[in-house]
Formats: sequence, structure tokens, C-alpha cells
Amino acid sequence: MKIDIHIETTSKNYTINFFTENNFENLYKTIESQINNRNCLFVTDENIFAKTDFFKNLEIQNKNIIVLPAGEKNKTWESIEKILDACFQHNLDRSSCLISVGGGVIGDMTGFASSIFMRGIPFIQVPTTLLSMVDSSVGGKTGIDTPHGKNLIGAFHQPEVVFCCKSFLSTLECIEIQNGLSEMIKHGILGNKTHFKNLENLLKNNTEIFTNTKITEVINGENFELLQKIFTLVPESISVKKHIIQQDETEQFGGVRGFLNLGHTYGHAIELLSNFQVPHGIGVAKGIICALKTSQERNIFENNNNKESSDENRIKNIFEYANINTSHNFSDTEMEKAMMHDKKKKNGKIQLILIKKIGEVTYDYL
Ligand SMILES: NC(=O)c1ccc[n+]([C@@H]2O[C@H](COP(=O)([O-])OP(=O)(O)OC[C@H]3O[C@@H](n4cnc5c(N)ncnc54)[C@H](O)[C@@H]3O)[C@@H](O)[C@H]2O)c1
Ligand SMILES: [Zn+2]
Repeated sequence: MKIDIHIETTSKNYTINFFTENNFENLYKTIESQINNRNCLFVTDENIFAKTDFFKNLEIQNKNIIVLPAGEKNKTWESIEKILDACFQHNLDRSSCLISVGGGVIGDMTGFASSIFMRGIPFIQVPTTLLSMVDSSVGGKTGIDTPHGKNLIGAFHQPEVVFCCKSFLSTLECIEIQNGLSEMIKHGILGNKTHFKNLENLLKNNTEIFTNTKITEVINGENFELLQKIFTLVPESISVKKHIIQQDETEQFGGVRGFLNLGHTYGHAIELLSNFQVPHGIGVAKGIICALKTSQERNIFENNNNKESSDENRIKNIFEYANINTSHNFSDTEMEKAMMHDKKKKNGKIQLILIKKIGEVTYDYL
């Protein structure tokens, strides 16, 4: 089945193409025709290179490829320098393009490198994690982390096209599926209650898969059906982000793009305080529960009763279905100090996204 999503922003229009096959053949052909004889550099990380079959293809092996060390701790200037050096080594010029084959870390860095190489060249996003499919590959936010905080250096640079291929899901560890689900749940809470309901139904019926799979194991084999079903909800999740970024591409003060940060101000603080032992998506899940608590304390949250069907219980339960631990042990003082690093600070104030009900959020300040 061919489904495409078209994104129209002020700076660029582009398409997200979905590949529902269980192999990469169609993806290779489409990438080749998109490259259209341009000199390109594929950027990926060591895990994707070793664990997926994508780079086993001989034609791809003959292309320019840079394989970076994996993980958030490598989302640094040093990696950007490596990408830029590789661009020069392979004689890329202003007519060239970069191709990110990776999760959010590789995607954010490839996008940033392409925004500054020769003052900006195009780049293609091939997201390989669930999180990067539903979130980071769309919307044009690119960047790196510094010791001062996450994503504090970067640029808005929209991709030329996004190729979203189901086949990458089959080699992901369970924790990476949970990371992606957290951002999908976030999309449901902030802007589409039907998406929340669809995720809720799916996860409720597959709880034992998440409780029986170790976080470092791959959800595969008999359980591959679950991944297929999750993939069918990816376009719905991206659509929430699409509608928001089309109205507010560069996150203007008071604009709607800020809503996508639900759970992120708290979540980034938790990631930082845990020394990045808590991965991004899980940090967001914990952050959403912090935001829920603050929303209740400030009487912003509307559906607040003890019934199982209340929005409060539904939000708490959906993370439990996916076996995502939403608690943390950091004190309010530690959290506030860590949150002061967040770039969502406006005029010295920390902006929070708080929940009114499933499907509707609002702004407030710490
Ligand atoms: N730009 C944005 O709008 C945006 C939005 C959300 C998140 N982000 C950023 O995204 C990053 C998190 O992205 P992520 O969760 O994809 O992390 P990631 O890129 O670190 O990938 C997670 C892990 O999975 C491995 N991996 C990736 N694809 C694989 C595959 N198909 N099979 C096996 N292993 C694979 C990676 O090597 C890594 O170890 C954070 O840095 C976050 O700030 C950016
Ligand atoms: Zn995020």
C-alpha cells in the first residue's frame, strides 16, 4: 500500500514516503532515483551498519558512507566535524546531498551538517528508529548537544524528502520501540484523541509482549505482527506534527510548535540528571507524567476523577501497557536547576506545556 504525507512549510515542501515491505529493495530503487546522479554521502552509525541489512547491498556499499559511533553521547561538534571532513574527502559540493540513515541522533546531526556545509546543501532523511519515523525526521529541527544542555546548537533545515521504511523496525531493541511509542503517545495527548485511542487499544492487547521482552531484546518473530500494527499508526502520528509545523515552522513565541514539547522540559532535565542513562523517549514519558501532575495542581487538567476511564488513568495506564516506567527520583530543586538549561526559556522564564485533557494542551510557566 502506498501512502504519502505532504508537508508544506514556509521554507520548503516535501513528502514522506512509506515503504511497507519487509525488505529494502524498493527503498534502494527510490533512493537511487532521488539521488539522480548527484554526489552524495550516506551518514549512519555503527549499530545500523552492523545490525540492519541496509548496508549489505553491494550498490550501497560502493557509495560514500561515513559510519559514526552510536548514541546520544556522540551527538557532538566532534561528530559534525567528522561528517564535514568526509564531505570534503569525497568532493561533495553545492550540488551534492547528504543522506541520513539513522535514528534521531544521526538525523539531527546529518541535518545540521548539511545546513552548514557550503552554507547549506539538501539532505534526505531515512529514519531507522520508531522515534525518528514519527518525530525527529519531520519538521526540520537539526542540531547537537553540548555540556550546557541538549540540542542547544542547531538550525532549522527541512529535508528534501523522508523515506520511512518498516523493515528497519525488525532489528530495534524493545527499549527503542518504547522510546518511539512515548513520542506517539505524546502526539495523541497533545493533538489527536483518536490516535491516543488507537494506541491505547493496540497496547492494551499486547501488554505481555512488552513485559516479557527484555529491553535489549528485539521484538521479532511471532511478535512482528505488533510492529506491523504500530507501523500502520505512524502516518497518523506524523500528521499531528505536520499540522503543527505547517502553522509554526520555527517555534515562534506563543506559536503552536511549542506544544510538541509536551513532556520535554521535564524530560530533558531527567535525561541530563541521569547522565543520559534515561533515553530521550523514556525521558519524555516521565516528563508527560510530571506535566500531568503540574496540570492537576494548577487546576488546568479537566478530567480528574477516580474512574478507570478518566483521562488521568488513561494517560498513566497507556505507559504501563507498554511497560514504560514513568517514575523518577530527582528532587524538585534538582529538576528546576536542570530545567534552567532548557532552551524553551522565554525572557528568563521556563515554558511548560500542560495538559487540559487527552487531545488538548496549553502553555504555562514554571
Ligand atoms: N529533530 C527533532 O525534531 C527531534 C525530535 C525528537 C527527538 N529528537 C532527537 O532524537 C534523538 C533520539 O533519537 P533515537 O531515539 O532515534 O536515538 P538514536 O538515534 O540514538 O537511536 C537509538 C539506538 O538505536 C540504534 N538503531 C537505530 N536504528 C536501528 C535499527 N534499525 N536497528 C537496530 N538498531 C538501531 C542506534 O544505533 C542507537 O543505539 C535525541 O537526540 C533527540 O533529541 C529530535
Ligand atoms: Zn522528543
